[in-house]
Amino acid sequence: MTTRYRVEYALKTHRRDQLIEWIKGLLAVPFVLHSQPTAVYDSKPRNHVLGKMASTARRRYAEILHDVEELINDHIALQKSGTQERSKLKHLVPSVGLFFTPLLLERAFEYQDEKRKISSRRFVPPSFNDIRLILNSAQVMSLIQGGPLQLVTFDGDVTLYADGQSLTPDNPVIPRIINLLSQDVKVGIVTAAGYTEASKYYDRLYGLLNNVREAVLEKELVDPCLIILGGESNYLFKFDLSSEHCLEYVDRENWMLPEMSQWTEENIKTLLDVAEKALRECISNLGLSAEILRKERAVGIIPTSSAHRLTREQLEETVLVTQQVVEMSPAAKNLPFCAFNGGNDIFVDIGDKGWGVLACQRYLGGIEGSKTLHVGDQFLSVGANDFKARLACTTAWIANPAETVQLLDELATHSQSNGTQ
Ligand code: IMP
Ligand code: MG
Repeated sequence: MTTRYRVEYALKTHRRDQLIEWIKGLLAVPFVLHSQPTAVYDSKPRNHVLGKMASTARRRYAEILHDVEELINDHIALQKSGTQERSKLKHLVPSVGLFFTPLLLERAFEYQDEKRKISSRRFVPPSFNDIRLILNSAQVMSLIQGGPLQLVTFDGDVTLYADGQSLTPDNPVIPRIINLLSQDVKVGIVTAAGYTEASKYYDRLYGLLNNVREAVLEKELVDPCLIILGGESNYLFKFDLSSEHCLEYVDRENWMLPEMSQWTEENIKTLLDVAEKALRECISNLGLSAEILRKERAVGIIPTSSAHRLTREQLEETVLVTQQVVEMSPAAKNLPFCAFNGGNDIFVDIGDKGWGVLACQRYLGGIEGSKTLHVGDQFLSVGANDFKARLACTTAWIANPAETVQLLDELATHSQSNGTQ
């Protein structure tokens, strides 16, 4: 393997989303052909030149997204007949997985183009973020069209609140979540944060829990369904007015998936021992100012002082080494795990958010993947923990809590215009 190949492929592909990169490549062609970087020298009125450029680019981008939409429809049809290896999309983008719904990409492009003026740009081609947001809008539109949406699960850090912070009462996501609950949409918070005590979740989520409590007391909400699944797929709590901290612990027997009975204490200990050893070696080899935090179902490293920031390189190297060591060990044959970079810490958790979302769906009466949306910030294929939720349901990839708020507003707007809610 040449060095260049290793750097470009082996070490970087996990940091790119193949579907998004592929769409970006398709849209680059009309951008190159129709953008007008030289319009400033043109003798014709500039507005005329730019207006024509924008309308041509818009038409071409929309056509391409329409074609991608059709390829996804074809992929879904083959998925249903169990012959997805014949899918043309799979040939073009080998890493594509399951699609739980079609994606209304052409309509979503028109919506995002109106907001972001993608086709009016002369120097900046359609970007990763443009396409990520088009995919999110397309997902929301498709969920509403195929409705009703029954469950929305949210990641915690970076999705609902800033990294390492708490969901405080002034967070604008709160009225949006209450709105979902009032429409009979069930809400789950599927977070890596793994605590056995309700008080710890209350400390992180008190703004939301107190507001939901008030809405119930004021009779604005009747019997809202709000649950928290912590430690990726390990601890379930449900909102309950009469419980301390408004949260009631739900015994594993009541929600566990049959496969989880294989997650024996012995297997868990063996896997966490392997992970701990790998993390300790990274601390020593990379000279990290970090210490081990071992929990019942997780092991991680956190900086020795809360003011200390680990560098991106340290975090990435550690998560990649640890992922590889655990994956290669016999312990990983018996148990799913998730190694991820938490921004200023690294954790290896037992289970993952795929199992977490599946457990929520089962506990809530068997909700399907096509009626569930998981919103998260970590969708890269290695070192990220929301990625596995793609095995259980539709997803939206946001970059910060403000985008989560925008996404929920989009959901509400499209639902209203569709007349579903
Ligand atoms: P998420 O973004 O909601 O999935 O939360 C991830 C963050 O939770 C991590 O970056 C950690 O800072 C924190 N955390 C606390 N306890 C745990 C644990 O047991 N496993 C993984 N992350 C944890
Ligand atoms: Mg997160």
